[in-house]
Amino acid sequence: MHSILALLSGCVLAVEAAKSTVPNELFSPLVPQKVLATFKALPIPTKYPQYTTTSGTWQYFSPDTWTSGFFPVTGYELNTRKNLCPATPANGLGIADWLAVGRAASNGLIPLENGNGQGHDQGFLSFPFVEELIVNPNNETAKTAILAFSKILADRFNPVVGATRSWNTADPTDFQVIIDNMMNLELLFHAETLTGNSTLRKIAIAHADTTMKNHIRPDGSTWHVIEYNSTTGAVIKKRTAQGFSDSSTWSRGQAWGIYGFANMFRLTGDSNYLVTARRLATYFLANIPSDGIVPWDFNAPLIPAPRPADSSAATIAANALLLLAKYETTASATSLYTNAAIAILNNITRLAWNPSWQSILSNGTVNKPANNQLTGTVYGDYYFIKAGNELINRKLATCT
Ligand SMILES: *[C@@H]1O[C@H](CO)[C@@H](O)[C@H](O)[C@H]1NC(C)=O
Ligand SMILES: *[C@@H]1O[C@H](CO)[C@@H](O)[C@H](O)[C@H]1NC(C)=O
Ligand SMILES: *[C@@H]1O[C@H](CO)[C@@H](O)[C@H](O)[C@H]1NC(C)=O
Ligand SMILES: *[C@@H]1O[C@H](CO)[C@@H](O)[C@H](O)[C@H]1NC(C)=O
Ligand SMILES: *[C@@H]1O[C@H](CO)[C@@H](O)[C@H](O)[C@H]1NC(C)=O
Repeated sequence: MHSILALLSGCVLAVEAAKSTVPNELFSPLVPQKVLATFKALPIPTKYPQYTTTSGTWQYFSPDTWTSGFFPVTGYELNTRKNLCPATPANGLGIADWLAVGRAASNGLIPLENGNGQGHDQGFLSFPFVEELIVNPNNETAKTAILAFSKILADRFNPVVGATRSWNTADPTDFQVIIDNMMNLELLFHAETLTGNSTLRKIAIAHADTTMKNHIRPDGSTWHVIEYNSTTGAVIKKRTAQGFSDSSTWSRGQAWGIYGFANMFRLTGDSNYLVTARRLATYFLANIPSDGIVPWDFNAPLIPAPRPADSSAATIAANALLLLAKYETTASATSLYTNAAIAILNNITRLAWNPSWQSILSNGTVNKPANNQLTGTVYGDYYFIKAGNELINRKLATCT
């Protein structure tokens, strides 16, 4: 009896300790203020923010861009925040009808249903419509969008390879799959729920299983790109595109991987996915340097200093770890991943919280080989807000 009580109070202490270290900036009035300002500045006809200049000014892109769903879904995320925090207008959430913002900003995505150049990234494009169906399960516009995007993704499946194609290639037998694609599989489950078509789930599972087999190194790190031969299914090449080298680990890819496999566990209950998410998380956490800042690639050289961070890899990983924590069954594993997520958020906030920028965070690395770094990113900001919501949901943070 005595030891059970001791154990219980130990848990409470662990939770309390984590609670006290959540960065206040997650709930700052600047967050809704910046999102509303960006919404008001959206170009007409619609273009979407993707990343900022190195001085913090949003750059806008045509809807047919992989990141276009992130700004609209940010509106839905602040609507969720407002519902979680109804009695705390002090955090500035009262300045807009966030559901209306999310809905209005989604409209520019509708033409993409008829075809788009985004390959596998249909899942990211569908995020606002997934959120719309949580708010209004009968919204036909959102259902149609989800079914259209999922069909485009499912049509990219090759049963010989056992995966959906990521990028198109000049030689169609050169079948390239990137780790990021794990994040797009969730869309197929939503479409299965709407139609009852279980082929969509089978495609997602095949893709995840093929990725589990070929994308992960023995130490739990990941390759960015695996090239398969589409006629034989053989692996041709394991390489990078956005990382430092073919043998290095691009941190955003690693974060997508943790998140994608944790999602696959959530959606299927298959423990192989949980084990895989843990392996990727263990590598990620073991390779954060002593300054606590997630670098753009874990193996990128330290000289010249400073090695650019990737604030988006940090916020994506924080959400991935919070999801993983939810599925852990021991208090020690749950608190390990929860505390790691909070530590990552603390450290990235210390580096990249930048009140004078249009984005919430600076220090994103969009694509280092293309020399696009030291920016804000629309996805880094989205995952920053989402992590705040999750911490409130778990009662690890209050609304202010
Ligand atoms: C349905 O969702 C779309 C965006 O997905 C939104 O523009 C529209 O306002 C919604 N309609 C209703 C009736 O909720
Ligand atoms: C189910 O989805 C698959 C993949 O998109 C498609 O080929 C098949 O025709 C669908 N089945 C039905 C009954 O719609
Ligand atoms: C795939 O295999 C086929 C048959 O062996 C071959 O003709 C083709 O060139 C290969 N493609 C690539 C990209 O290696
Ligand atoms: C920052 O990161 C370091 C190294 O991972 C960690 O020990 C520290 O607790 C983090 N800081 C905060 C305030 O969470
Ligand atoms: C973070 O961003 C600032 C401003 O752009 C830059 O001076 C600094 O070098 C960056 N630090 C890292 C670690 O990326």
